[in-house]
Amino acid sequence: MLGVCYYPEHWPESWWPEDAKKMREVGISFVRIAEFAWSRIEPEAGRFAWAWLDRAIDTLHKHGLRVVMCTPTATPPKWLIEQFPGIVPLDEQGRARGFGSRRHYTFSSPDWLRESRRICEIVAQRYGAHPGVAGWQTDNEYGCHDTVMSYGRHDLEAFQGWLRQRYQTPQQLNEAWGNVFWSMELTDFAQVTLPNLTVTQANPAAALDFRRFSSEQVTKYDAMQAAIIRKYSPGRWVTHNFMGFFTEFDHFLLGDHLDFASWDSYPLGFVERSGLDEAERTRWAETSHPDIAPFHHDLYRGIAGNKFWVMEQQPGPVNWAPWNPVPKPGMVRIWSWEALAHGAEVVSYFRWRQVPFAQEQMHAGLNRPDRTLSVGGHEAMEVGKELFKLGVLAPSVQSSVALVYSYEAAWMTKLERQGQDFIYSDVAFRYYTALRRMGLNVDIVRPGASLKGYKAVVVPCLPYISPEAMSAFRETQAQILFGPRSGAKTHDFAISPQLPPGDLQALIALKVTQVASLRPGLTAAVAGHDASGREQAGKAWRWREWVETELQPQMTFQDGNGALFTQNNVSYLAFWPQDDLLQEVIRAHVIAAGVQTMDLPEHVRVRRRGKLTFAFNYGPESWNIPDTATLVLGEREIKPQQLSVWE
Ligand code: GAL
Repeated sequence: MLGVCYYPEHWPESWWPEDAKKMREVGISFVRIAEFAWSRIEPEAGRFAWAWLDRAIDTLHKHGLRVVMCTPTATPPKWLIEQFPGIVPLDEQGRARGFGSRRHYTFSSPDWLRESRRICEIVAQRYGAHPGVAGWQTDNEYGCHDTVMSYGRHDLEAFQGWLRQRYQTPQQLNEAWGNVFWSMELTDFAQVTLPNLTVTQANPAAALDFRRFSSEQVTKYDAMQAAIIRKYSPGRWVTHNFMGFFTEFDHFLLGDHLDFASWDSYPLGFVERSGLDEAERTRWAETSHPDIAPFHHDLYRGIAGNKFWVMEQQPGPVNWAPWNPVPKPGMVRIWSWEALAHGAEVVSYFRWRQVPFAQEQMHAGLNRPDRTLSVGGHEAMEVGKELFKLGVLAPSVQSSVALVYSYEAAWMTKLERQGQDFIYSDVAFRYYTALRRMGLNVDIVRPGASLKGYKAVVVPCLPYISPEAMSAFRETQAQILFGPRSGAKTHDFAISPQLPPGDLQALIALKVTQVASLRPGLTAAVAGHDASGREQAGKAWRWREWVETELQPQMTFQDGNGALFTQNNVSYLAFWPQDDLLQEVIRAHVIAAGVQTMDLPEHVRVRRRGKLTFAFNYGPESWNIPDTATLVLGEREIKPQQLSVWE
């Protein structure tokens, strides 16, 4: 189904009924509201103005629309900040972050926690049982604008408490962090400082714990909101809208208390946020790279409940990327269908109408400010009609291939880059792309998730192998491919005592003795055979390792050192291959696992959902679907920016 984000408080009330009617005409079923409306709900401490919101919800409900209600905590109003100035977060430089945009709170302020509880309870009590309310979104985009970590007094106190619980004694903390180095030893938890404003790099073990703590603060905060909603709004689901290429807290952990995850898909904006190089960014500027949105669909489907929503779908140009092109005609439709093909239950557009004032006035909506449908609005309407034609889509089933994704891996490689371009989300994305180029459905799973039933698993990089992750790797029959830096660190961020890949040595008998990061332009030639015995040659870039082992390498570096090894069902790749070689290594890996593949050009992707196969053409050339297919939607020749669906 389709949805939309709507801000009744931005528009004259006389427009609401007309808006609701038009939403129905576009094919919209769900309307998300009120996530930024605190100042209108409670204009002064304790004085509530419900009437307008009652009428807004009633209007939508009367028109047959189902409301996604939000808690308004992403935008604490001015009076609240004046009353409790300790709510605002401090940035890494120790400066208070000002009022005047959004997300100006720290998760560790006791005043904030109390005030959040209060507003959530009041809103949930008022609307929890409203027949028009289908479910809830908590807050809005945790962490957006760099707001997971805060460096103030409350954060420090909460962090000290967290460490006390975890380490019991300062000696154990010193031991875990290696504080003897540079005389960093502490004799009391009260001496702990935050890992900012240090003269040079802070101890990465301390910084990692601060990230773990900050991540848990987000989860605890959200769990508090979810519990309140469930108390007052029985039978309704709870979700949160996550972001793209965002790794600052562990979304898997937060997802444990959600009914399902949702996320905000801005395929063009994310081109600029991706690890793609300049030429690639230009190539995909007006369509997005065909794997950017799908990567996140697969990630968020795996967070909770084996389903997801796109809570905010880009409807046209946005305002916040360094450049904001207009999507090529057809792309809003393609992005919507990509989401649905990947298992989305609802695609909800951001926003109903472009707003002519304040920060986001240059951000498109389904309608232009003059109240007529925009290009994106027309495309959404087309999707609405097509959805009606296709009927109910099948539920998502397990794929044959999984990619193991870890937030902690992102933190560890960020805290210890070692090579500037070793960016976790980029390495994960490039492995994912290689799988998608072969027409595969991919599941993205957390470390420790059961890997039973998969034929092939890829682990692009997993520095710390938890006991749960280790047992999942042991128990699966799948062919597993580990990328470099896997098993390199302990839980306390020290080098694995038996050397990398640490505990993985029980699965593949090799030791990494040296590592090198490779600056742009510096590469290492690699040649040999892939897992299916085909000859391969290519280059390592960004990262390579030296390995000591009795195993015969399948590929070697020019200097004779091994580069790719396999023992039983486990392979270890001792470098970051350039894309073409990575493609071949991964192809051989999944073929050896017995997975059927197809070869897609770089601008075409397919995805299966139930009996249906969807194909998407990101351009610039046409692509023909297989002869045997029975078309359900579209043409046999898929023109650029078009899609087809067949059985
Ligand atoms: C999202 C956010 C929305 C809006 C949108 C603009 O990150 O949740 O409130 O700002 O971006 O693209």
